Amino acid sequence: ETFDASGLHILPGAIDVHVHFRDPGYTHKEDFESGTAAAAFGGVTTVFDMPNTIPTVADGETLRAKHAIAASKAHVDYGLYAVLGEDTIGKVSELIEAGIIGFKCYMGNTFGRIPSPSTGAMLEAFEVVAPTGKRISLHAETNSVMERRQQRLTDSGRADPLAHLASRPAVVAVEAVARAAILAEWTGARIHILHISSAAELRPLRDAKARGVDITGETCPHYMMLGEADYARCRGVIRVNPPVRESANDAPLWAALIDGTIDMIATDHAPHTPEEKTRADIWAVDCGFPGVETQMPLMLTEVAAGRYSICDYVRWSAVNPAKVWGLYPRKGVIQPRADADFAFVDLDHAWTLRDADLQSRSKISPWDGRPVVGLPRHTMVRGRFVMKNRALVADTKGHGRSVHVIQQMPEPRPLHTDETLAAVIAARPEAAA
Ligand code: DOR
Ligand code: ZN
Ligand code: ZN
Repeated sequence: ETFDASGLHILPGAIDVHVHFRDPGYTHKEDFESGTAAAAFGGVTTVFDMPNTIPTVADGETLRAKHAIAASKAHVDYGLYAVLGEDTIGKVSELIEAGIIGFKCYMGNTFGRIPSPSTGAMLEAFEVVAPTGKRISLHAETNSVMERRQQRLTDSGRADPLAHLASRPAVVAVEAVARAAILAEWTGARIHILHISSAAELRPLRDAKARGVDITGETCPHYMMLGEADYARCRGVIRVNPPVRESANDAPLWAALIDGTIDMIATDHAPHTPEEKTRADIWAVDCGFPGVETQMPLMLTEVAAGRYSICDYVRWSAVNPAKVWGLYPRKGVIQPRADADFAFVDLDHAWTLRDADLQSRSKISPWDGRPVVGLPRHTMVRGRFVMKNRALVADTKGHGRSVHVIQQMPEPRPLHTDETLAAVIAARPEAAA
């Protein structure tokens, strides 16, 4: 089949390493079909789906069932995460066997109430995962810190949307990033910091990279493009964990992306229904909003504005995610090959994001009415168009495949053994005393 792409740019399909497609368990919010359709419309050809579905992805059997669902419904390729927590330390090999792209560790509260591991359990879990080479992605927020803040706000009768921002000051994340980095350094585990939301988290991230920790980070468009002023406009719709912070964080986050401190763009696509997003009690509003199909136009708008180049964007959206998760060069490249993943984009097309136009089942987001420049016109997954001329291509449901089968993680870093720990302790004079 010949195809006229004149006037369009061909980019590697984006890899969104952080989406919640809600299947199984919350399919009224999204399922693998609607979520991957949204991805296709966003120029996204690979997604990594989070494990806070029902049941939680915490054992091989649940994971295999989720694989069956995804394989039957997905329009684009995907990887599946499994939970790393106190209860799954003993299930690491069973989960890897059943096929995961990586582990997800919830240090803080999340949708679906997954218990957060203690620091001790995290250390043990990191020790077990490190030799496998699998990367551990962290929701880096510390429960005890934010819970005390939130209680104080609740006690004082504060229930406006901005109270949500106040309940999670950046220290909630900074402390968690630093702690995760120390545990990774100590165990040799590879880690990835999800949804970096504040300038303050950049210091522990930079420090850890300088110390040689295998640590990567992502941020999301909402942390760089929205600020405290958007709370009045969006009310509960903007509620997300971690929260959209003060606009003063935007410039440092952009700078960190451009200088490579932050490695990639992800979306934390977290669909909920309009009812769930507009409850009068702000504390009862479900956190998160859809993002997988708006990331590319939002980010390309900044290319059009001259903030960075299209090559920078491709590095953050495709090349780096592919490299970090061992999918490169099978994914994240432009190569004229039969199994290519491409986004055909019109870089000059000015249009307006509309919630009503979203493919996601969740048609409510903070982006409604936002002008953008840059439109994914067609999307190809492994040589096959799944979205053409802003329409889904028939019979592409089920075309998506799990990418764990092509994952090539580098050799594991050496693990600190009890012997090396003993040597470290012995080398410290105060330990000998
Ligand atoms: O806002 C959020 N929504 N943060 C999370 O950590 C989870 C996510 C969800 O699953 O809805
Ligand atoms: Zn999270
Ligand atoms: Zn998330």
